[in-house]
Amino acid sequence: MTLRNDKTGYGAVAQTLHWASGFFVLVAWLLGTFIDDFPKAAEPSVLFVHMSLGLAVAALLLVRLGWRLADPLQPSAETALGPWSDRLALLMQWILYGLLLAGPVSGVVLEFARGQPVPVFGLFEITSPWTRDRAFAKSVKEVHELLADALMILASLHAAAALLHHYVLKDATLLRMLPRARR
Ligand code: HEM
Repeated sequence: MTLRNDKTGYGAVAQTLHWASGFFVLVAWLLGTFIDDFPKAAEPSVLFVHMSLGLAVAALLLVRLGWRLADPLQPSAETALGPWSDRLALLMQWILYGLLLAGPVSGVVLEFARGQPVPVFGLFEITSPWTRDRAFAKSVKEVHELLADALMILASLHAAAALLHHYVLKDATLLRMLPRARR
C-alpha cells in the first residue's frame, strides 16, 4: 500500500487519519454521553480519557488538513448519482471538519469555565485562565453537547452514504477508503 493518494483511492496516511479520527470521535462521544453511568470514583479517569481522545481528534484534524494540502484528493469514483453527490459529499466533509474542531474547542472552554486545567495527554496541563463560573459552564456544556451530537449525527449520515454507495449503487466510493487489497 502506498502512503499517498492515487487514482484508485486514498493512500495509507489519509486512510489512517480518517479511521483513527472516526474511532476516537465515537469513543469520546460514548464516554462523554455515559460518564454519569460510571462509578463516581472512575469519573475523573473517564473524563481524562475523554479529553485526551477529544484533543487527539483536534490534533489529527490539523495533521489531516496539512496532509490534504501536501497530497491533494483525486477525482471521486464514478457514481450513478452524478456530480451533485460529489458536491454534497464535499460540503459534508467541510462541515464535519468544522465540527471536529468546534467539538474539542468547546470541550476545552467547558473545562476552563469550570476553573479546571486541561491535561494534555498526561504530559502537562494548561491552567484555566478563568475562575469557576457555574452559569457559564452550564451554557458551554449545552453547546458542547449540541456540537458533539451534531458531529455524531452527520458522521452517521456520512457513513450511511458510504454504505449506500457500496451496497446499493455498487460503486467504488467506500473501497477507496479501504486498504488496497480490498479494492
Ligand atoms: C470530538 C471530540 C469530543 C466529543 C465528541 C465530545 C463529546 C462529549 C459529550 C457527548 C459529552 C456529554 C455532554 C452532556 O451530557 O451534557 C461531553 C462532556 C464533556 N466533555 Fe467532551 N467531547 C469531545 C472533546 C472534548 C475535549 C477536547 C474536552 C476538554 C479538553 C472535553 C471536555 C468535556 C467535559 C469537561 C465534559 C463534561 C463531563 C461531565 O459531565 O463531567 N470534551 N463531551
